[in-house]
Amino acid sequence: MTASSSPKKLGVNIDHVATLRQARLAEEPSVLEAALDAEQGGADSITVHLREDRRHIQDADVFELIEKIYVPLNLEMSISPEILKIALKACPEKACLVPEKRQELTTEGGLNLFSKRKQLADTVEALSGKEVQVSLFIDPIEKQVREAARLGAYAIEIHTGSYANARGAQKEKELLRIRKAAQLGKELGLKIHAGHGLNYENIFPLLEIPEILEFNIGHSIISRAMFVGIARAVQEMKKIIQAKNN
Ligand code: PXP
Repeated sequence: MTASSSPKKLGVNIDHVATLRQARLAEEPSVLEAALDAEQGGADSITVHLREDRRHIQDADVFELIEKIYVPLNLEMSISPEILKIALKACPEKACLVPEKRQELTTEGGLNLFSKRKQLADTVEALSGKEVQVSLFIDPIEKQVREAARLGAYAIEIHTGSYANARGAQKEKELLRIRKAAQLGKELGLKIHAGHGLNYENIFPLLEIPEILEFNIGHSIISRAMFVGIARAVQEMKKIIQAKNN
């Protein structure tokens, strides 16, 4: 790590554990146990997305995790008033505002910060008023980054899905977009996070972007965990990230 850069952190998204539990509407696998294992593996934060349709994480999971885990909980959420009410009651350390569509398999694309602007601004203000660090999940687009700063967000989480899906020369272009958005965001006083579609291979070029302070990763870690367990799967990703920190 250079003297001027901060260590990069790893947030682990454990929604898939709840997806498996909800497939049987059963007690197992335990989302809390998964979070504690992820912590043991070196997770710096735990992320869960309380979706409006409650397809995986349930309200009770959010409250239990906040009470029982040691690292910060990052609550991914839409700006719906119903979800905001729960977030304000639960008061996680961090919240990441994302767009949400009922039919999507996972979050598709970043927020358009120019849509529902008043609701968005009120949501950021209400959460920030409770000392929740609010990040806005956006695509690496200049006007979205500028708007995030104007809205008074603590951080942006740059959507890395297009980068993860790109091939050949397009991958370089996507990387450049992320780099530029990260630089601009930092200049504007935002903390920079990144996530979506990242895995044990495609994370490497992103580690070269000094402005990115945190990666939020779910699918690849939980997939790997099926074969090696959650703690080790997290540990392996953390080792990749830490190698850059040292
Ligand atoms: N960040 C955000 C805002 C997300 O919506 C997701 C997916 O839930 C992730 C990160 C993690 O993405 P993945 O599961 O592809 O690692």
